[in-house]
Amino acid sequence: PYPRKVKIVEVGPRDGLQNEKTLVPTDVKIELINKLARAGHRAVEVTSFVSPKWVPQMADHMEVMQGIQRLSGVSYPVLTPNLKGFEAAFQAGCEEVAIFGAASESFSQKNINCSIMESLERFEAVVEAAKARGVRVRGYVSCVCGCPYEGPVDPRTVAQVAHTMYEMGCYEISLGDTIGVGTPGSIRHMLEEVLKVLPADVLAIHCHDTYGQALPNILTALQMGVSVVDASVAGLGGCPYAKGASGNVATEDVVYMLNGLQIETGVDLDKLIEAGNYICKVLNRQNMSKSNIAATVV
Ligand code: HMG
Ligand code: MG
Repeated sequence: PYPRKVKIVEVGPRDGLQNEKTLVPTDVKIELINKLARAGHRAVEVTSFVSPKWVPQMADHMEVMQGIQRLSGVSYPVLTPNLKGFEAAFQAGCEEVAIFGAASESFSQKNINCSIMESLERFEAVVEAAKARGVRVRGYVSCVCGCPYEGPVDPRTVAQVAHTMYEMGCYEISLGDTIGVGTPGSIRHMLEEVLKVLPADVLAIHCHDTYGQALPNILTALQMGVSVVDASVAGLGGCPYAKGASGNVATEDVVYMLNGLQIETGVDLDKLIEAGNYICKVLNRQNMSKSNIAATVV
């Protein structure tokens, strides 16, 4: 019993690029985002309104946000860790933002420099400001299967943080296996706990592919009723505050799998592959999507 339709949230321009050492030119980011939207994505995460000292690659957030061509029916969320980030995002014309918390104390400290409790207070302020201005808020919970500093994470903590963020007013909670340590077993166990407090239709799954488990993990989540999947074109990515975290699952491979299951995504695989080739060429990076490699070899 799979969902008939799946919404993919393309996180390549943000999660995919945030960890790149050399600064990607702003016009390349803009072109990538435009290509991804033209490939049929309904949601493309654009950038992060975070401190440029922490994540230099996202320092051009304002220019990128204002430079893209916004297609109707496509949402362009951006990351905002605090009110300062939210205000800047709102100035840039953002209609959707994302707050990002964690189910691990150490990761919260390393990533956003505060405890889980403090982060939730900051998020509350962001959500209030966003509500007042009609801006939608998505919530991320990181380290849902494991933390790079603490090891295994208790699924009950994940459920608690997810529930709190939803109650605050997030319309959707994305569960992040930040370092890709989850397996279909631990993903199932984690989701069972989250599903005790939240319905499947407000959840998204966000898998990194460190151990090659992302596709089976996503399939497991789909079987449990989740119908929103985060993915990054060409499998780009990694979190700067999670050592060893490799890229997200490649969007091309998710689309290939969903096509095979006859699940509708609205995304054109050929156009997506072209967008992946474009960015990999600029970055001089190997494309991590198996579907891309297969399409290129054949
Ligand atoms: P802080 O140093 O504690 O902040 O950082 P602060 O409030 O003490 O301010 C310090 C300085 O930062 C000040 O500037 C502020 O103005 C500035 P100064 O006076 O020193 O010149 N500042 C800002 N500048 C721009 N935008 C802002 C902002 N806020 C303060 N919004 C902070 C706290 C959260 C800002 C910092 O830790 C930060 O930027 N962290 C970013 C972390 C990040 O982007 N991580 C990657 C994304 S998360 C992820 O990848 C996981 C995910 O993919 C899901 C998954 O895979 O699990 C989402
Ligand atoms: Mg991520």
